[in-house]
Amino acid sequence: MATQAEPTNGADTGANWRADGESNGKAPHLTFSMRWRLWRNRQIASPRFRSLIARLPLTRWIAQRKANQLFRLTAGFVYSQVLHACVKLDVFQRLEDQILSTDQLATFCQLSTPRMRLLLENAACLGLVLQPTRDIWMLDDAGAVIASDAGLRAMIRHHDALYRDLVDPVALWRSEMPETELRRYWAYVRGDAPSAVTAEQAAPYSLLMRESQAMFADCILASYDFGRHASLLDVGGGDGAFLSAVGRKHPNLQLALFDLPAVTERASKHLTEAGLMARSSVYAGDFSTDALPGSADCVTLLRILCDHDDDRVITILTNLHGHLAPNTRLLVAEAMADPSEGARLASGYFGVYFLAMGSGRCRSADEIMSLLRTAGFRETEALATTNPLIATLVTAIR
Ligand SMILES: C[S@@+](CC[C@H](N)C(=O)[O-])C[C@H]1O[C@@H](n2cnc3c(N)ncnc32)[C@H](O)[C@@H]1O
Repeated sequence: MATQAEPTNGADTGANWRADGESNGKAPHLTFSMRWRLWRNRQIASPRFRSLIARLPLTRWIAQRKANQLFRLTAGFVYSQVLHACVKLDVFQRLEDQILSTDQLATFCQLSTPRMRLLLENAACLGLVLQPTRDIWMLDDAGAVIASDAGLRAMIRHHDALYRDLVDPVALWRSEMPETELRRYWAYVRGDAPSAVTAEQAAPYSLLMRESQAMFADCILASYDFGRHASLLDVGGGDGAFLSAVGRKHPNLQLALFDLPAVTERASKHLTEAGLMARSSVYAGDFSTDALPGSADCVTLLRILCDHDDDRVITILTNLHGHLAPNTRLLVAEAMADPSEGARLASGYFGVYFLAMGSGRCRSADEIMSLLRTAGFRETEALATTNPLIATLVTAIR
């Protein structure tokens, strides 16, 4: 872990650094870039410097951009609630493919006209809706995406639970919260017996995963050609939403899914409804201890490893390694930490999500490759996807 910097009184000597426990109280060596950053931070902290930058015509745009960024960060929780209210009131779906007046929307949403107008004006500031003329509303770009994606709306609604877990953020970071809503929600991360998860416990998270799979599957299918394989096993495949998407795209691919007993009945039902059951097999079990079918030449772990701490990831991967046939290609896909803007947004978000869940973390592709090699996999490789905000791919050979 990096040593925590705490510059005081503007001095940049090692004596002004507080070291954390892991560095045994030793001050870190200050590199040139650290010293430069300390100097830069002191300039930025100075109101006189900021006022100068804001007054000079050539630097004013930087001052404004930085101020806007900070304001966006400070007010983000308010923007999230405007978004949340619009989703809960079905504003985006009401406006899909049509233009409505404030009065019409107020009737649909059961709000007074002035309150409806206020909500829509707030939503317009956030790029969700547009007001081409007074009291006439249509969707802006972000609103059009939300209206078209049930999974996105489900995730926004689901944030109710995360929001409640974040009411006392310091208690969350100090691990002082005995139980969180997200830990109750993701029932398989509690206790030692995931197979004991009941169908009632699995239903809400399985539905959320199914609904939020569309964008994820699009990203993975655009980034990796499953047509080169004869058969695919989706481990922790949930309701079979990914398998359905890949099966539709590749009509000759044999399909298999492995998940907890509480989930597999749902998967069979959805694969049947998708008309894919004739070429699908569904297996129930615990992927950390039970035998997995070893016949597929490609195996996917989608949004699985991020749910678990490192020791459990090693257990899961080692169990997989023990049962898969030599030369099977394993594909891990989930949001991963990397320097791109999208991945930074995703890892900043998932870092908090997994903290509230009490298990797992957002790892870099390098960390995932290292865990795979520890479990015995070889030829690990990271592959970019069409959108690192949604997922990065890591492949390996059994
Ligand atoms: C976050 S969901 C991801 C589902 C799916 N891969 C997707 O991307 O939509 C994790 C899945 O792993 C399954 N799972 C969790 N622990 C498991 C275990 N020990 N054995 C088998 N499946 C498990 C859950 O039931 C759930 O379907």
